[in-house]
Amino acid sequence: MQDKLQTLQDKLAQAAQGGGEKRIEKQHAKGKLTARERIHFFLDPGSFEEMGALVTHRCNDFGMEKQKIYGDGVVTGYGTVEGRLVYVFAQDFTVFGGSLSETHAEKICKLMDMAIKNGAPLVGLNDSGGARIQEGVQSLGGYADIFYRNTLASGVIPQISAIMGPCAGGAVYSPALTDFIYMVEQSSYMFITGPNVVKTVTNEEVSAEELGGAMTHAVKSGVTHFTAQNDMDCLLQIKKLLSYLPQNCEEEAAMLPYEAGQEERPALNTIVPENPNHPYDMRALIEELVDADSFYEVNKEYAENIVVGFARLGGRSIGVVANNPMVLAGCLDVDCSKKGARFVRTCDAFNIPLLVLEDVPGFLPGTDQEWNGIISNGAKLLYAFCEATVPRITVITRKAYGGAYDVMNSKHIGADLNFAWPSAEIAVMGAKGASEIIFRREIMEADDSAAKLAEKEAEYAEKFANPYRAAALWGSLFARPCVFFAALKNLVWPAATPPHR
Ligand code: COA
Repeated sequence: MQDKLQTLQDKLAQAAQGGGEKRIEKQHAKGKLTARERIHFFLDPGSFEEMGALVTHRCNDFGMEKQKIYGDGVVTGYGTVEGRLVYVFAQDFTVFGGSLSETHAEKICKLMDMAIKNGAPLVGLNDSGGARIQEGVQSLGGYADIFYRNTLASGVIPQISAIMGPCAGGAVYSPALTDFIYMVEQSSYMFITGPNVVKTVTNEEVSAEELGGAMTHAVKSGVTHFTAQNDMDCLLQIKKLLSYLPQNCEEEAAMLPYEAGQEERPALNTIVPENPNHPYDMRALIEELVDADSFYEVNKEYAENIVVGFARLGGRSIGVVANNPMVLAGCLDVDCSKKGARFVRTCDAFNIPLLVLEDVPGFLPGTDQEWNGIISNGAKLLYAFCEATVPRITVITRKAYGGAYDVMNSKHIGADLNFAWPSAEIAVMGAKGASEIIFRREIMEADDSAAKLAEKEAEYAEKFANPYRAAALWGSLFARPCVFFAALKNLVWPAATPPHR
């Protein structure tokens, strides 16, 4: 028995070496951790149980039969994060460049099946040269097996992908099907076709970083939800994200202990400027409103006219969706509609209540918006709010104009509670635009047209650019924003499915 135990120990020790010392050094020289180092840093100490450590590939072409490395380029298993079960795989770039073979894919699929069956989050740490070139179609089939499972798992368990090295070609579609993507700055990239193919086909000269680096996907495409400075920062951020999410779609996110601090927030009375045309920092308003340091913004650098992210209210995990008057005056456009819709649907899938902070002057006009489909993309945000069955609360902090009023989680599309602060303006459009249309003749015929317009504008504003008409019809008016946090915290949140459904 002693010999047999020793043999097993030796094999496992060999597996732990991955592609060997030289390649591990190369990995470190790039500022990257190895697959095993990443997993051990990520999970609670001593909690990792590895699966398939001795799996090898079945390829006998191109001399591959002489190059069998235990684990076959991916480390898979389960463990805990803050005591909660999590399934994790990490591609090992030191073994065949982390490339995906048939067996490599089988290991990931087995892990995914277990995560779905047991209702626990799946975290994938990607660092791979793509399809195992020596295998060909088996490896492509392996990708499709993973994509299929990503789709089955979607909305059932949280799926998080970290891109910690190359991720190109078909490999990008597994992360794209998951709920959240992280990219490590300077050491990761994602693209369908690399710079060489781009040069051949379109004659564009572009570097890998510019084409598909972390900042490109954070700012330009919105593909990545988060960026990280390095591997450790990335793994710590994933742990943080998990704290806002439940284990699966049947459960609620854990409520964290809340220590009462400053319950009254005087700044909330003054953040919204007196002048309705002056912008203000919606992020500062959010920070002021939720538990201290609890706001974790998603897609921070993309379509910043809407701000979305997780936060806590009295320890409870919530999703925040807010118009941002600092960018495009907070107008809704194509990109921010897609961003908002996806976030709302993710919160809805995982039982995370929504808090909507509204200051929206309308949809962004222009040929660019119309030709890029603001109609169908705006509808995505509208649809996401309409169908969400999680508790939904809206606070109109200032403008709620036109169709955008309806879209931003209005009462009429199923929000559970709608508040307006005294600074709210709820109307079909701004007072100036409205006056120019409905009082056009009077203004044209007046001796002093400008004075007439100003007079009519003031008349319209007094009547409609305030919350009182909506309050008289259906609305709740919240008198003092400074005590709004305490009111929300103490609220008995509505049941997950509103009674009118
Ligand atoms: N299949 C099989 N082996 C692969 C591979 C793949 N797709 N991608 C990388 N490797 C191997 C390399 O042969 C090398 O092996 P070695 O250590 O025995 O020499 C090792 O992985 C590391 O690759 P290397 O090219 O030295 O690393 P790099 O950091 O300089 O470059 C890539 C990384 C991903 C840019 C580069 O390896 C590459 O272009 N790979 C092919 C990508 C591709 O076209 N994939 C198929 C389509 S999805």
